[in-house]
Amino acid sequence: MCGIVGYVGRRDAADVLLDGLSKLEYRGYDSAGIAVFEDQQIRVAKSKGRLLDLQKKMEEEGKPAGHAGIGHTRWATHGEPSDRNSHPHGGGSVTLVHNGIIENYKRLKEFLLSQGRVFESDTDTEVVAQLLDYYYEANNGNPIDAIIKTSRELEGSYALGVVFADFPDMVFALRKESPLIVGIGEGESFIASDVTAILKYTKQYYLLEPGEIAVLSHRETKIYDQHYQKIEKELKTADWDVSAAEKGGYEHFMLKEIFEQPTAIKTTIAPRITDGLPDLSECGITPERLTGFRRIHVVACGTAMHAGMVGKYVIERLAKVPVNVDIASEFRYRDPLVGKGDLVIVISQSGETADSLAAMRLAKSLGAETLAIVNAKGSSIAREADMLIYTHAGPEIAVASTKAYMVQIAVMYLFAFELALANGSVDEAECRRLTGLLQETPALIESILAHKDRAQQIANELITADSLLYIGRGLDYALSMEGSLKLKEISYIHSESYAAGELKHGTISLITENMPVIAVATQKRLFDKTVSNIKEVKARGAKVVLVCDEAYVPEKDVADLKFGLPEFDDLLSPMPAVVPLQLIAYYTAVLKGTDVDKPRNLAKSVTVE
Ligand code: M6R
Repeated sequence: MCGIVGYVGRRDAADVLLDGLSKLEYRGYDSAGIAVFEDQQIRVAKSKGRLLDLQKKMEEEGKPAGHAGIGHTRWATHGEPSDRNSHPHGGGSVTLVHNGIIENYKRLKEFLLSQGRVFESDTDTEVVAQLLDYYYEANNGNPIDAIIKTSRELEGSYALGVVFADFPDMVFALRKESPLIVGIGEGESFIASDVTAILKYTKQYYLLEPGEIAVLSHRETKIYDQHYQKIEKELKTADWDVSAAEKGGYEHFMLKEIFEQPTAIKTTIAPRITDGLPDLSECGITPERLTGFRRIHVVACGTAMHAGMVGKYVIERLAKVPVNVDIASEFRYRDPLVGKGDLVIVISQSGETADSLAAMRLAKSLGAETLAIVNAKGSSIAREADMLIYTHAGPEIAVASTKAYMVQIAVMYLFAFELALANGSVDEAECRRLTGLLQETPALIESILAHKDRAQQIANELITADSLLYIGRGLDYALSMEGSLKLKEISYIHSESYAAGELKHGTISLITENMPVIAVATQKRLFDKTVSNIKEVKARGAKVVLVCDEAYVPEKDVADLKFGLPEFDDLLSPMPAVVPLQLIAYYTAVLKGTDVDKPRNLAKSVTVE
């Protein structure tokens, strides 16, 4: 939540900051702002709303001109979205931007008020600026001393970009919990919440560790520890291409990312298959390490949790190990029965989701082993897990997750296959057959994407609905959950997912004439049962959209519309079958005219609980 950037170099700082913020807007878009050194003075420009609103404001009022500064795009936590609550915030000589939450800000604010300090916003961030300035004054104007003293007082999470009026053209940065990288270019340096913000300028960066302080100036970039000692760090190279963070001719990032799924699957699974069999040794995971777990828990949020639901079905069916799937925010506060002998799998695209990270730390403290399935390299969850499998989806910019989900389930399949083989619950021939099927999914998905117009036609029938239901059984139920979340998240149409067999225990009373019901029926062994449930809603007036095998021709009493899928194995069908659900959600949102890539009230990376 919130994205921060900073720049020192020869370029026009405002341009670089705004460009970086445009790549980070997925992290929040309640307000945006920059602070730039103009003629040795700090000049701030900020505005409620999107980056576009800030740009318009600067066209009218003039853009701060200089070669060093900081910037911010906000997802509001403390204080409503407004101009006065927008970052950057100041206190005396200090101006800063912040990503995270200061949990003890009230106590700190009381202290600062008692010192005669005056506040201009309702944010926790302004407290940090005032506290920094308090220590800065108390330490005879030494910024690093002030930063170290301030960081010792702060509880919560933060990544901070700071400028001091007395140190023109210098940017200071530090972090705890919230991510921050330091980019190194030719004669220029950057800070950013995420590498996508700097890819246009450099691929070289340092990962700032908690407590480390970066100091950027025209001459050099230095990093200090909490004892004011200069430290040397390993320079990393981003393997994402700059085009990965651009729309590349697509109307929206979400559509681009849906179409990137075949490539994302190939890139993710290819290095983990040897001689036709799953091989996770590249990730340090051997069959010996996998066997012996008495139970598996999958902990995640939102779409990543839905990927865990697919994983549960597959692992239990193939590897015969019991799997619990938990929402991370519930898991961490319900005294879970987890301990030695358990494996806790944490799935996360960003690797920074606060609840998932906390759940993983809890699981570790209880003695469980942890395995992270993460897309963002070097993220907190990736760094703290005992075992790690990176998904290689590339940057996912749209708030609605699509390609990240796809590769999360691809990894769950590989994991289940390897575990089942190691357990002896599946023999080598069957494991080889299943792995081969997984390798077929990219081509299958290509063929489904070619029918995107069909999804568009279906979307046309949904846009007037106030409410929808998604139903399915088994793996199709797990998919319904994902389809429903996708639709409500971006089209703002209320939607629920239900296990098809459960409807008649209450929910069927919601069905009214023409209410759309999207039924997913890819599981052959459950097909007749699902069709019976569909007939029950159809008989009560529902307008049914059926996602099923293309060979099936539904009678009038079953479905009004159909999205046909090529014949495929039941177990792996979620990979192709989720594609029409993503496309239907996408086109419904487009037809409704919503902001598809940045739906209201949301942020991509949820770093607060
Ligand atoms: O970064 P994570 O995978 O941990 O994020 C988890 C959820 O916040 C995320 O999947 C969210 O539900 C998506 N916006 C859904 O499209």
